[in-house]
Order: sequence, then C-alpha cells, then structure tokens
Amino acid sequence: MRLHKYERWWMAFGLSMLAVFLFTIGYAAVADNINPPSGLRQIDPEKIAQTPPFDHPGLRRISDGTYEAYYIAEAFSFTPQTLTVPLGAKVTFYVTSSDVVHGFFIAKTDVNMMAIPGWVNSESHTFTHKGTYLLICHEYCGIDHQDMFARVEVR
Ligand code: CUA
Repeated sequence: MRLHKYERWWMAFGLSMLAVFLFTIGYAAVADNINPPSGLRQIDPEKIAQTPPFDHPGLRRISDGTYEAYYIAEAFSFTPQTLTVPLGAKVTFYVTSSDVVHGFFIAKTDVNMMAIPGWVNSESHTFTHKGTYLLICHEYCGIDHQDMFARVEVR
C-alpha cells in the first residue's frame, strides 16, 4: 500500500503524540510510586483472617485512654458489628476490605475513609460524648450497600 506524503506525516504525528502520552502517564505513575495516598499499609486481601491483628478484629487497649480498633469490611457488613468504647477514649480505627471498595464513615465524628482491598487505612477520633454512633458504608458497593452498617457504643 502506497501512502501519500500527508498520510505518512499524520501517522508520524500520531505515533509521536502516543509516545508523549505514554511517557507522561508512565512518568506520573513512577513519580507517584503508584500508591494510594499517605498512611496506608499493604495487606494480602486473601489472607486477612490469618494476618494479625486482623485475625482478631475489634478493640485493643494500648494505654490509658488510647485504643486501636481493627475492622474488616466485606459485602455487606463490618466486623466487629458492635464496638464498645469507654467515654473519653482516643481510638485509632484501622480498616481493610476483603472484597470491593467500601466506605467507612462514623456519623458525628471525623472518621471518614475508604476500605480498600489490599490496603489498611486508619483515622483517629476521641469520643467525648456517650451514645451510639453509626458506622456506615458510604461508598456504593453492591445490591445491599444501604444495609451495610455497624455501631460504636460509647459508655
Ligand atoms: Cu459497602 Cu457500600
């Protein structure tokens, strides 16, 4: 097949634009280290149940008034379903997902993050009021998304 001069020019132009595009996204991926933003740790989503401390989800006391809470999100529930926290406790929530991306939002607090398979995300909150706090999935994750919630009881 014989190409006209302008056809060859357009092909060369197209290929060089493609090269520029690939270089740009390749460079951006390397520059960002292809990782989600700060503070995340990796976890094998197939082995959550065998990976401490996610093998025993729930609350851990670190020192007086300081706790860590480990959660597993999966369609369509959180483990643990109920977490009981003493009034005044500072709790760092750690969450991962065993299947798809879920939301992790505790109403009336600043805890608002994603539960991402392969990653552990974390945020802290100090509970200064007694009551029941709803933990909800606020990221659409499937047919029963709206029923995916748990409770934090502050006593
Ligand atoms: Cu899980 Cu929406």
